[in-house]
Amino acid sequence: LGKNVIYFPQIDSTNNYAKKIAQEGCEEGTVVIADLQTSGRGRLGRKWSSKNKKGILMSVVLKPEISIEELQIITLAASVAVVETVKELIGIGLGVKWPNDIILDGRKVCGILTEASMEMDKINFVVLGIGLNVWHEKEDFPDELEEKATSLSIYMKQKSQLNDIIIRRSRLIIRILYKLEELYDKINKGDLGSITTLWKKYSVTLGREVLISVKGEQHSGIAIDITNEGKLVVECTDGSRKEVLSGEIYVKGL
Ligand code: BTN
Repeated sequence: LGKNVIYFPQIDSTNNYAKKIAQEGCEEGTVVIADLQTSGRGRLGRKWSSKNKKGILMSVVLKPEISIEELQIITLAASVAVVETVKELIGIGLGVKWPNDIILDGRKVCGILTEASMEMDKINFVVLGIGLNVWHEKEDFPDELEEKATSLSIYMKQKSQLNDIIIRRSRLIIRILYKLEELYDKINKGDLGSITTLWKKYSVTLGREVLISVKGEQHSGIAIDITNEGKLVVECTDGSRKEVLSGEIYVKGL
């Protein structure tokens, strides 16, 4: 991954651009990076706000040998790559919240947007978008996110560690791609289990009370596990057990 890197000081969305070049037949592993996005996208039609050069905004074009039911594993692999990179290079322990959030100190520090293009029920290509907040100050986030979002530097300033470690976005990017490639190789060999095992190690979702909506119905219960393909298994208060593919969950206390 990352043999071809396309960099933009500014772009609408790295995921949009990656999709466009993937449609035109770019090589697998092509990475699109930007310093600023004018219409960064999140899941469920949300926006992803960015500030010039403060975060990592990147998208990777993948052609995984998996079925659409297994798509979630790509998001989980990316989460593991980010968590392990930040631990290794900066020494901060992050948590993963199913399906696509990375949490620091109870707030979101990174989001992942995995989008698949399908052809005749088969995955044609996948665009994996990663947005990691690195240098943001509190005031860089829109008001409504102030309580919900954080960055690596906000956290390190609180811990007075910022002067000891300089966070370089380029180093983080290189390491994330390196780790992602290792995990991606496992996925393509059919070894999805080792990704979910790693993800579980960092989970802040499992064992907690959650609210989920399945086919428009709300259920509450305890998140007890994730399946090998990355579905969340919830033991509902009505005694039933539900496997949730994606969609919205609310984790109590997070
Ligand atoms: C989410 O939390 O809902 C996912 C956020 C994903 C944001 C990243 S930033 C790089 C890439 N380009 C986009 O437009 N979105 C993703």
